[in-house]
Parts: sequence; C-alpha cells; structure tokens
Amino acid sequence: MTRVFSGIQPTGDIHLGNYLGALRQWIPLQQEADAFYAIVDLHALTVPKAPGEVLDATTRLAQWLFAIGLDPQACTVFAQSALSEHNELAWLLECTVSFGELRRMGQFKDKSDRAEFISGGLFTYPALQAADILLYDTDQVPVGEDQRQHLELTRTIAERFNSRHGETFVVPETVLPIAGARVMDLQHPDSKMSKSADTDAGTIMMSDQPAIIAKKFKRAVTDSENSVRFDQINKPGVSNLLGILGAVTERDPETIADDYEQYGPLKVDAADAVIAMLEPLQARYNDIAADPAECRRLLAIGAEKARTVAAVTLERARSNVGLLPR
Ligand code: AMP
Ligand code: TRP
Repeated sequence: MTRVFSGIQPTGDIHLGNYLGALRQWIPLQQEADAFYAIVDLHALTVPKAPGEVLDATTRLAQWLFAIGLDPQACTVFAQSALSEHNELAWLLECTVSFGELRRMGQFKDKSDRAEFISGGLFTYPALQAADILLYDTDQVPVGEDQRQHLELTRTIAERFNSRHGETFVVPETVLPIAGARVMDLQHPDSKMSKSADTDAGTIMMSDQPAIIAKKFKRAVTDSENSVRFDQINKPGVSNLLGILGAVTERDPETIADDYEQYGPLKVDAADAVIAMLEPLQARYNDIAADPAECRRLLAIGAEKARTVAAVTLERARSNVGLLPR
C-alpha cells in the first residue's frame, strides 16, 4: 500500500484556505493509502512563541483534524515532538545537506526577510522536514505548491545519504501537489487567505459563526464592473467567490458564473454554502473540544503507532552511518 505522509504546523487556528486547499485532501487518502499525519510542533518553534502557545495550538489543531474527519482507526495522527526520532534523524540529515542548499530555500529567504529574530532552526528547518518524511518510508507527500522546493530537497538529501551510506531511505516521489483550491483573502483578493493577514475581515476561520461568515462575505472586495465572470487576473475578488463556491459545491467556477448577474446573490450563496459545509464540522469540533483528555489519548496512540515505523528507519540510518549500536 502506498505510504503517505504530511504535516501541518500548529500556528494559530486553521482557516478556510487551510481546509479547502490542503486538509480536505487528507481525508480520502486515509482509505486509499497508509497515511501518517503529523502536527509539526517542533517546526512551529522556528519562530519565537509565547509560553503555552504551541501546546494550545497543537491541541486545537488535533481537535480540528478529528472534527473534519480524520479517523484515528484509519490513519495515524500524532504530534511530531512526541517522538525523539524526528530530532535524531534531523541531525544526521543536517550533516547531509549543504549550507548552500539550505540558503537557497525560498521559504527561508521569505521568512528571514520579515523576521526580527532569525533562528538557526529557521535555517535548518528543511532538514527536520526531510526527517519527518524519510522516517516513514514515504512514497507520497500531499502538500501545497509552496512546499515543492522542500520536497525536492528531501529527495536530494535521501539520494545523497543513500549513495554515501548505502540504501537507507525510500526516495519520495515528487507527486504533483494534490490540487486544492487556492483561497484568497476576501479583503485583499490578490493575496492568499492567511492567518497572518493585517485584519481578520478577509479570513474565514473554521470556527466562525454563521452571522460572522455572512458579514465577511457581504463585505468581500469585488470590483466596479458589475459582471460575473471567472477571470482571476482582472477580477480576483469575484473569481475568489466563484472559486470558493465551486470548491465547496464541487462545481466548476466558470459554469457557476453563468448563474449570476450580480455580485450580491453570489456573495449570499457563497456564504450560505460555506456556512452549511462548516456547521456539521463545528458541531463535531465542539463535541471533541469538550473532552481534551480523549484527544491527548488519541494523539498518544498515534505517536506509538508512528514510533513502530520511525524507530526502525532511524536505527537503519544510525547503523549505516556507522554510529555505536545502542
Ligand atoms: P500554513 O498555515 O500556511 O502553513 O498552511 C498549511 C497548509 O494549508 C499548507 O499545505 C498550505 O499550502 C495550505 N494553505 C494555506 N493557506 C492557503 C490558502 N489561502 N489557500 C489554499 N491553501 C492554503
Ligand atoms: N513545511 C510545511 C509547511 O510549512 C510543514 C511540514 C513540516 C511538512 N514537515 C512536513 C509538510 C513534512 C509535509 C511533510 O506547510
């Protein structure tokens, strides 16, 4: 069976972009593959965090993952920091990747340009990410386009390690990122919907109540043309509304455009579709959030399952490098 691995950072609450663009794709893979999904809390530490922030975000993210339909019987959900194997392999991989390769990573350039404090961890981040992936003999990694460069580097690291130390890792295929919708900010339709936006008016959080969602859609930025067409370059706001409605209803945005003459009804329908989609997920989230101990229990079971695979790979890597047996 195909082995799938993916990870998401616990940094704040998840939004509609995370769900439609990435997380929703994880659900069917539970049945189609042997799927491992990690909440990569160690990665979240690359940017300074207040005490308790990562723990809180990890718990809430796990609760959301279960609420949207990850089934702990069908896949393995766990927190990265629960396994020391990730750090241990990361060191071996830091010694396999070059300074130049790390320096070329777009995400590092991007984040370090904006950061006040550039941690060493932000720089070596891709080696930890490679460890996440390679520990599980992963065949495929479903992630967004923005992770393509990190996946290519993971392949390079795996191939170099295998050629230096003998066959150790499965080299993950660079699968085309599984197509998810790219959801744009409702206020700034030229940028991605994101939790770091300057105002939350353009971001639909998974936990937003119906009245809030309706208001955010009503105020969504469009244009002064007053004609409904799917044209992402010239009409980013309207196209985003069509894209969201299309992603939720699984219809083609260009076809949906034919149903509308004015922006108002399109905004109402997009809001209603999102509200209807989120309502059952929010209800499940509220049930799950009422029992945090159960969530921690499920994560602990996930971590044990993950360890049975990760420990074998780490041991193989240690032994092939030529470290003292333990
Ligand atoms: P982030 O929270 O930016 O680390 O993203 C977590 C996952 O959600 C990644 O796989 C991203 O590619 C995806 N993602 C984040 N924002 C959006 C968005 N606005 N539209 C589509 N996918 C997104
Ligand atoms: N770097 C990824 C992101 O920013 C998160 C991540 C860490 C990841 N380790 C991973 C994704 C392993 C896939 C596989 O979204």
